Amino acid sequence: MDLRTYQPTAAQIATAKDLACRGLLCYQPFIFSDALQTGAGYEFATGKEGAGLVYCPDPPVEYLGSPPVQRLLIDRSIKDDFAAHNQSLRVLYDSMVDLIDQHLGPISDLTMADIGCCAGYFPLAFAKRGARRAVGYDLVDYGPTFNLLNEVLRTRAEFVHQGYIPESQRIKGMDTFDVIVSIAVLVHLSDPLQHLALLGSLAKRAIFVWTLTSSDLNPADDEKMFIRYHSVNRYYEHSKFPFCFDVMQISPALLKTSLEMMGFTEIYELKNTPDGMPEGWFNTQRGYLGIRPDPSKSAPKVTQPEFGLADSIPRLIRAIADYNVVSLRGQFWGVPQALGPLDLTTVEVEKLPGIIAGRSPEEVVEKIRAIRR
Ligand SMILES: C[S@@+](CC[C@H](N)C(=O)[O-])C[C@H]1O[C@@H](n2cnc3c(N)ncnc32)[C@H](O)[C@@H]1O
Repeated sequence: MDLRTYQPTAAQIATAKDLACRGLLCYQPFIFSDALQTGAGYEFATGKEGAGLVYCPDPPVEYLGSPPVQRLLIDRSIKDDFAAHNQSLRVLYDSMVDLIDQHLGPISDLTMADIGCCAGYFPLAFAKRGARRAVGYDLVDYGPTFNLLNEVLRTRAEFVHQGYIPESQRIKGMDTFDVIVSIAVLVHLSDPLQHLALLGSLAKRAIFVWTLTSSDLNPADDEKMFIRYHSVNRYYEHSKFPFCFDVMQISPALLKTSLEMMGFTEIYELKNTPDGMPEGWFNTQRGYLGIRPDPSKSAPKVTQPEFGLADSIPRLIRAIADYNVVSLRGQFWGVPQALGPLDLTTVEVEKLPGIIAGRSPEEVVEKIRAIRR
């Protein structure tokens, strides 16, 4: 995001430099001024990890000589390449928002959440386009960064300092949103499918997922189903087994199949653009937008005086948390997955331990959420 047109004040630029040096405004591509730019575009495009994420020739004096800050600051000699690659990363990021806008827009009708939002590029981009609500969640406290960027952009993107906890497969207090985005986060989670299942259960209309697939994929591999684990986590070093692995690679087929199995029937793949990131890097990743069927466009329901055969067959509507939401004989049930495989046509469903009943799937989901709060 190029913020120069918003004319940030000297005080705002000073705050931005401070946040950049504290690692709270560095990974995503922002331009504050000709002497303050951020982004991981250069490291991604060149593969030179450690080259730096911040161009700031005059950092605050208190940070001079600090090794963690030196790791973030680029050498001035690469300034032009740094700026060019971060421009490409901006194009890529904006193309993700455009894809959602194109297939689900107008964005002003939507609520969105970004899990692993970092400095807030995506919630801010949605807020700029008038989203009804745009909320970022992250394990790290990016609250001060959101405050600054909202002030500069005159937006009201929200930040919630809560992350996904793999041990409970939850994000505390998180509710449903029309659109949920997950960008470069699955790659850092040892249980990416469990995380994806949670996001899918909270996404009412669509989900956008961008993640690493493989660094050595050939076209035939596109159809293979795999997850590869890399080594023990470098970034999240306190994570304990079995949640301690990093740089997870998920095959495109597995990612797409997962979206389909969660009920996202329309799937669009993000394409690179001529001014986007280098092909070699782009092709190691995949971005899919999955959209649920639009209920307003489904065929009108034929009303039946009695429940027909279709109603006597249990139908899985969705999975949420550790329940399956199922319809059967005109009623809706939350069936604890812990009960294992069951033939619901041969048991007394209402007597199953932990069973939840409702008149609609929404009522069942609400009751499940209330229990898990
Ligand atoms: C590689 S960055 C991607 C940031 C942003 N989504 C983007 O693509 O620009 C990963 C982000 O996910 C966050 N993160 C990692 N594990 C998380 C978790 N379990 N729950 C929430 N956020 C997490 C990190 O703090 C970081 O901000």
